[in-house]
Amino acid sequence: MSLHKEFLIIQPRDHFWVDIYHLMNSIVQPRPIAWISSVSRDGVHNLSPFSYFNICSMNPPIVSNSIFFNRDGSEKDTLRNIKATRNYVVGAVSHETAPKANLTSAPFGPDVDEFVEAGVQFMDRGPGLPRFIAESPVQLVCELRQTVPLGEGAGVGTLVLGEVKEIHLSRGLNPDGWRKGIPPHLLDNVGRMGADYYARTTDIFQMERPVVKK
Ligand SMILES: Cc1cc2nc3c(=O)[nH]c(=O)nc-3n(C[C@H](O)[C@H](O)[C@H](O)COP(=O)(O)O)c2cc1C
Repeated sequence: MSLHKEFLIIQPRDHFWVDIYHLMNSIVQPRPIAWISSVSRDGVHNLSPFSYFNICSMNPPIVSNSIFFNRDGSEKDTLRNIKATRNYVVGAVSHETAPKANLTSAPFGPDVDEFVEAGVQFMDRGPGLPRFIAESPVQLVCELRQTVPLGEGAGVGTLVLGEVKEIHLSRGLNPDGWRKGIPPHLLDNVGRMGADYYARTTDIFQMERPVVKK
């Protein structure tokens, strides 16, 4: 089989980045979604979803997410807030809260409280601290470790690495057995796919890790 006959070869540098963005989003999927609560230096609270999100180290736990510049090249409020206060909270997005998480992705101005705008319940933690997202059963309290700028301008991301200082688990998750993890059906997390598609975790299966016999 000749690779050139059976595969279409796309070289990103020859194409408009938005086309590559749509293609890559449909390939790297489903992606977990971080619902990020942050606060500006002036005390304006912000809430937005980010699906270029993952765990990248575990001792201590560090989570990564990549925040793009806006199409006009300006910084997104979340990135500006995290850089300014170095604190943020990551919540999980369930099937039930997905529509509200989507609402918080609207391009509200920096002076708009997106919790209020999207009708998301919150718990205040005091002046200068990002709120907890009351509608999310998990809150990861993160402290900024490092930002890694990957360039500047539309379509360019800044990698944000945050150390998870506290993990708050809702009693509704029966968290006493947390050392074995939370059963997936209790979280009902959604994943982001390409275009406007999302995935649920309702069709799951198990596989044991292979062992090499000695
Ligand atoms: C499910 C979902 C996932 C998203 N993931 C990202 C992402 O990983 N990085 C990013 O820069 N924007 C992402 N966005 C877009 C931001 O949520 C959107 O730009 C938001 O307005 C940023 O808000 P802010 O300026 O208040 O920080 C995503 C949007 C949705 C709906």
